[in-house]
Amino acid sequence: MTHPVRLDRHGSLGLIVINNPPVNALSAAVRQGIEARLQEVLGDDSLSAVLLVADGRTFPAGADITEFSKPPQAPLLPELCNMIEASPKPVVVALHGTVLGGGLELAMAAHYRVADENTLLGLPEVKLGILPGAGGTQRTPRLVGIKVALDMMLSGLPIKAADAERLGLIDEISPMTTLRGDAADLASEVGEVRRTRDARSQFLDGATCMADIAARRSVPDRPLASRKIIDCVEAALLVPFEVGVEMERDAFVECLASDASAGLRHAFFAERSAGKFPELLSAVPKQVDTVGVVGGGLMGSGIAIACLDAGFAVTVVEQGEDGVTGALNRIGALYEKGLAKGQMGEGALTDLNLTTEMEALGSADIIIECASEDEEIKQGIFAKLGQVAKPDAVLASNTSYLDLEPLTRASGRAADVVAMHFFAPAHRMALVEIGVPETANAQAMATTHALAKALGKTPVRSAAAPGLIGNQMLTAYRATADRLLLRGAQPAQVDAAMRSFGMPMGPYEAQDYSGLDIAWARRKAMKTPDLEALLLPDILCEAGQFGRKAGKGYYVYDSEGKRGAANPEMLTMLLGERRMRPMAKLALTPELIQDHLIAALINAGAGLLEAGTAARPSDIDVVMVHGFGFPRHKGGPMHQADMLSTFEVARRITEYAQTDPAHWRISPLLARLAAERMRFSQYQDAGMQK
Ligand code: CAA
Repeated sequence: MTHPVRLDRHGSLGLIVINNPPVNALSAAVRQGIEARLQEVLGDDSLSAVLLVADGRTFPAGADITEFSKPPQAPLLPELCNMIEASPKPVVVALHGTVLGGGLELAMAAHYRVADENTLLGLPEVKLGILPGAGGTQRTPRLVGIKVALDMMLSGLPIKAADAERLGLIDEISPMTTLRGDAADLASEVGEVRRTRDARSQFLDGATCMADIAARRSVPDRPLASRKIIDCVEAALLVPFEVGVEMERDAFVECLASDASAGLRHAFFAERSAGKFPELLSAVPKQVDTVGVVGGGLMGSGIAIACLDAGFAVTVVEQGEDGVTGALNRIGALYEKGLAKGQMGEGALTDLNLTTEMEALGSADIIIECASEDEEIKQGIFAKLGQVAKPDAVLASNTSYLDLEPLTRASGRAADVVAMHFFAPAHRMALVEIGVPETANAQAMATTHALAKALGKTPVRSAAAPGLIGNQMLTAYRATADRLLLRGAQPAQVDAAMRSFGMPMGPYEAQDYSGLDIAWARRKAMKTPDLEALLLPDILCEAGQFGRKAGKGYYVYDSEGKRGAANPEMLTMLLGERRMRPMAKLALTPELIQDHLIAALINAGAGLLEAGTAARPSDIDVVMVHGFGFPRHKGGPMHQADMLSTFEVARRITEYAQTDPAHWRISPLLARLAAERMRFSQYQDAGMQK
């Protein structure tokens, strides 16, 4: 195997080249390689300067995150950075790609920095629940000042090369074609070393620096990593460099050991695994230029906007002139709003074609059906699509709950039909579930996956079971919350508990927000009604209390839709139902409510794995984080199961089942993992899922 770091000699210049695809992460082998090659240059009198560069798509995009859970290996990145900075021979770096985290820290330890104009530079560690741990908190403020350093580290967002040059983070910008040559010239010319650690000019106005720190510190409820970043940046101002680096190291170790960092790192890798569809191994996606959308309601409009903004031509089909006008108004309003907020590009609406003619979809490469959730209507649409769509077009349904089989049949071209389930608002939400009927061909899947990626979404694969992954999880979550209402909880109590867990809304606020009538219609259409289900939502709907849009639901709302107190009529209805269906009361606390609802999600997730609906535990986590706002720093319910231990979750469910056996049935998979004391991540790594 070739070593990931090599030394090339160009006259008196030692060119150290990193080559560790895909992103040149600073693994132990890379760190050892850089150290060894640097020592070689320093020991060679014929070499007077060093140029550090990387092959491939980027200069290192950071430390190797996969090593964070393993014992550390020398040299640690901060040690390597110190070695580079201490070099008596000038070290220049030539930067390109995404110079992130440890990659930027390495660059800041070098004496001079040249970057290609498209380079992005950033310190995204906070997104992983950690802080720059290789001197970044000490060197960044020395180069760009306290305020910009805090902006970069607390947001985790990268800056462009032009801004980096203006701010003093890099010395020169050079076109990619001449980057190495220009950086080599600089290395030959500079002669002297210039150590970032010695720079103090950014700290001359001490009062302003302290005010910038105080302003950041005054923001309440900052997570641990952000608080530590502020402390370490303050140390850069107040204490010698070595002491600041020591403080940074302690803080890094503490943050790395935190549950929040474990959750965020899990989410990072879960998102990347979710995108690996097996079909991508055998099929190449078809070229997509035009997307068809059937139905210009809220969902269809959001999907149209997402496609337009990604540069696709879009044809939306609506019923009648009123339907077309309504869709145009909706799309126009969403577009104006997005444009005003800087979330959308100019001019996208010129590629929109709104029509009543299904035949207009004949040129679309992929057609997404977003009609109302009615099987008969959708069957009619798929029958028509089967006739008008061009032979190789993908026919996707945005349905989640309906069985795809009748739609596949109606289309007469089963191999082209998939589910492509967006979450509302579709132009903003990152998740797209792709439901795969057994009949779908690999190219249709690959094309749907490619479209989701082109829209900037995170695709997750699901078997085409009604509800896919997300709505089956949601059903289990809501059913358990309803059970708690029967056992003495009030909706507001459940909502408050789940908000304090980190969900953006509790289950009842969320139902009021989206409208109780939607699930009501679905329940009424169900062939086998759930006899255990709470009747309260049906009773509310029968009274026209559909939630926010009706002014009443679980809560009352003012004329502007602002949520007020619990709806007193709802509380009376709930008391009536409790009298009808007496159950043992629970000693309710926020923790107990959270434990029940998280256990319900884990149990449902295990069921989905068993059924083969979800391919990996981590896919379920991605759906929960991106579709339902499960707190990212908690990783997702399946990650929570691993944090608690599958044994503990199984124990809790067994305990809950003692007082509510009709509701709690432990998933056999969860019971098995608990008996073997196995984590879901081990089950996933061992490839044991269906
Ligand atoms: N460590 C290990 N693997 C990494 C990695 C890292 N820092 N960054 C990316 N990868 C892996 C991904 O897991 C993925 O692997 P698979 O193909 O096996 O799934 C592969 O590299 C490609 O990554 P993406 O699919 O994300 O590619 P992209 O082109 O969409 O994005 C990127 C590239 C912008 C670099 C993105 O991967 C990214 O943001 N990476 C993380 C950057 C980061 O957080 N750096 C800081 C690390 S912490 C640190 O450096 C601490 C410190 O101070 C010492």
